[in-house]
Amino acid sequence: MGYFLGLDVSTTATKAVLVDEGGRVAAAAGSGYGLSVPRPLWAEQDPELWWRAVRESVRLAMDRAGADPASIRCVGLTGQMHGLVLLDEMGRVLRPAILWNDQRAAVECAEIRRRLGLEKLVGLTGNDAFPGFTAPKLMWVRKHEPEVYARIRHVLLPKDFVRHRLTGELATDRAGAGGTLLLDLRTRDWSEDVLNALDIPSSFLPPTHEGPEITGRVSRGAAEHLGLAAGTPVAAGGGDQAAEAVGAGAVEPGVVSMVLGTSGVVFASTDSPLVEERGSLHAFPHAVPGRWHVMGVMLSAAGSLGWFRDQFAPDVPFTELDRLAEEIPPGAEGLSFLPYLSGERTPHADPEARGAFLGLTLAHGRGHLVRAVLEGVAFGLADNLALMRRVGLASVQEVRVAGGGSRSDLWMGILADVLGVRLVRSGASEGAAFGAALLAGVGAGHWSDVQGACAEAVSLGETVVPAAERHRLYTALHGRFQRAYPALRELQS
Ligand code: XUL
Repeated sequence: MGYFLGLDVSTTATKAVLVDEGGRVAAAAGSGYGLSVPRPLWAEQDPELWWRAVRESVRLAMDRAGADPASIRCVGLTGQMHGLVLLDEMGRVLRPAILWNDQRAAVECAEIRRRLGLEKLVGLTGNDAFPGFTAPKLMWVRKHEPEVYARIRHVLLPKDFVRHRLTGELATDRAGAGGTLLLDLRTRDWSEDVLNALDIPSSFLPPTHEGPEITGRVSRGAAEHLGLAAGTPVAAGGGDQAAEAVGAGAVEPGVVSMVLGTSGVVFASTDSPLVEERGSLHAFPHAVPGRWHVMGVMLSAAGSLGWFRDQFAPDVPFTELDRLAEEIPPGAEGLSFLPYLSGERTPHADPEARGAFLGLTLAHGRGHLVRAVLEGVAFGLADNLALMRRVGLASVQEVRVAGGGSRSDLWMGILADVLGVRLVRSGASEGAAFGAALLAGVGAGHWSDVQGACAEAVSLGETVVPAAERHRLYTALHGRFQRAYPALRELQS
């Protein structure tokens, strides 16, 4: 039996997943690490932590599957997007990686907009400048650490650092490359115009590849370190969101995937670039060759419920909170919740946005508060989808939902009623690593394309159908929710 190995270099752990030739998960293993916060709102990680965790997770997954090295037909990589890894001419790491959730580069974002003009920036890259993206962070290093900048020869994303260690090759995938803000969205390759305007040498950047393309082979040294066979091919893979979408089978226009995790993601495949003119949505190439995707990110989705429980109902199981909320009618008897506990990315692009409970009375109890949180997060996800529809996302036949929040029947029901579309619970529990393994399977020629891999391997859970009457009710309540953010923003200024 042959396997495809998916490796996800995430912010909290590296996960290795072995998928067999029938598209089934044979084994999975993870190895965790922390991140350092040298100053408030900064987030860094030592790339050596990833490499160590890759070793542990690969060896453990191989053991669990009883797989011998020669049975691994191909490796696929995925991981946290936007991270800045800097190497010198010997391939040595120059400083800790600056991660996707680091907020230090706000001034550089303004400078990028000034240098290019927002219209041209969005026109070329499909995106506005966010501090977490790679280019503003590179410019921050140029300004604040000139001695480091002077020694840079290679700029890599976290999973591409692992690729370099695995194969000795410098390469990246196009979905991940989109998150640097240096990619021309239409040509799916580095933008000379953006690089020139920002004065960044193109020699810093590795060649770009479509998700299933083979970018190199496991070197002898890496093979010994990891317990793999030298010469095993390594596919480009994809940024974590694109790979997660592959794992959920969201590879065709019309199928939207949502992740109801700590943060919330709304992801739609498109067959041409779909761009919001101010760049409030992210638009990147998909890990599927010739497809793009548009994406909205809510910073506090299931994280809002986690916060509520930790602060006001510690030790109460989520199932019990659900039971309390289920007894409360839709609309929580006049109580609304704004889920902007960490500021918001989409649709408001506002780090200063704040959360709120609105309309509290003595009649409201714990169940009302929980119900308001579930509804507020569903309205936030609906705002993301509405923005996509406004810029031209044509048909939404089905929404596939993954992440911890999708385990709640009540939350799935509320989300279906708010969106007014059919939801399908995703059956993929191994997320982005599973998607990366499928991309490896396509790269190895086992499946002829990503769509074919998904058709065989992606399993789906049950369907949740919206109720017409509750959808009408929630549509009215959604209007009230949408008016609350600008009103409260006004009070803050
Ligand atoms: C995507 C994003 C996160 C990171 C970390 O734009 O910022 O999904 O990739 O997982």
